[in-house]
Amino acid sequence: MELFDGLKKHISGKNVRIVFPEPTDERVLGAAVRLKSDGLIEPILIGNTQSISELASARGLTIDNLTIIDPKTYDKFDDMVQSFVDRRKGKATEDQARTVLLDENYFGTMLVYMDLADGLVSGAVHSTGDTIRPALQIIKTKPGVSRTSGAFLMVGNRDSEKYIFSDCAININPDAQALAEIAVESAKTAEIFGIDPKVALLSFSTKGSAKSEEVTKVIEATKIAQDLAPELAIDGELQFDASYVPSVAQQKAPDSKVAGQANVFVFPEIQSGNIGYKIAQRLGGFQAIGPILQGLNKPISDLSRGCNEEDVYKLSIITASQALQGK
Ligand SMILES: CC(C)(COP(=O)(O)OP(=O)(O)OC[C@H]1O[C@@H](n2cnc3c(N)ncnc32)[C@H](O)[C@@H]1OP(=O)(O)O)[C@@H](O)C(=O)NCCC(=O)NCCS
Repeated sequence: MELFDGLKKHISGKNVRIVFPEPTDERVLGAAVRLKSDGLIEPILIGNTQSISELASARGLTIDNLTIIDPKTYDKFDDMVQSFVDRRKGKATEDQARTVLLDENYFGTMLVYMDLADGLVSGAVHSTGDTIRPALQIIKTKPGVSRTSGAFLMVGNRDSEKYIFSDCAININPDAQALAEIAVESAKTAEIFGIDPKVALLSFSTKGSAKSEEVTKVIEATKIAQDLAPELAIDGELQFDASYVPSVAQQKAPDSKVAGQANVFVFPEIQSGNIGYKIAQRLGGFQAIGPILQGLNKPISDLSRGCNEEDVYKLSIITASQALQGK
């Protein structure tokens, strides 16, 4: 796919260090080996060397050139414990830190926090909560962003059919401020994929056609987002058809610079976002790639537990691209 060819070219040879806390899963190990042999990233595998080696030899994979770190024998473990206690500011004792950091996700996230790695890909085995909670607690959100959010890249049959849908994964009912931040961060995510963002804040109302608390929230969020990023094309509140179909836009929002040509769709809360992306995927035949976590200081990515090796490979490429965008 052309889209990934561009991203691969961008990250190739840059030695972006990506942590894999689940290398005893064959999909993850297979993807890490391919990513290294394709010269795309420097994988760091977290776990017991013997268990990883056994899986590698059973699958005929060569892992001699991959970095493996076992939390139980890590020589900088004491430094990491101290750094974790400092970061959690009274929320974890040293004893708690020593236990928590034996967990591969916490350990891997700390490597990213301590600049010993550039990003992390997990979630093939762990739940969304277990994968991203360490990131929320340790990596935290970028200045000016109060909530991290989860976007999907939706890819159609033609390479030009690329859209961002968000937040479909994290914030159950964001307030106007959080929704505005999601809109701005989604535009940045779009840019990673070469999309010139036109951001629509979606609703069941277009430009005052309906009145309710829910609509008011989207109107407020639109204003905040426009103030936060005046350089971006952001508009709302728009119904999906008004945001996407030029003839409807002409009728319902003729003065909008986004209506009729939106490519970044921001849903008012997680239910519509999650339902919306799955409809596009299952009825519309779009490929859904994500959730891509946005707004964190460093990229942490959450795989679906139903993923295959190719999904791990692709999400790792996206994570490495986010890491380079943040540098
Ligand atoms: C993401 C999620 C797991 C976090 O839940 P949680 O661990 O119970 O969160 P808590 O409220 O205990 O917060 C833990 C920490 O994360 C922070 N946090 C929580 N949500 C956050 C967000 N969206 N952005 C940034 N930080 C967040 C909290 O501030 C807290 O930080 P602190 O410990 O430094 O004070 C939860 O929001 C969730 O379940 N979302 C829905 C996920 C889901 O089911 N998706 C389905 C489709 S994939």
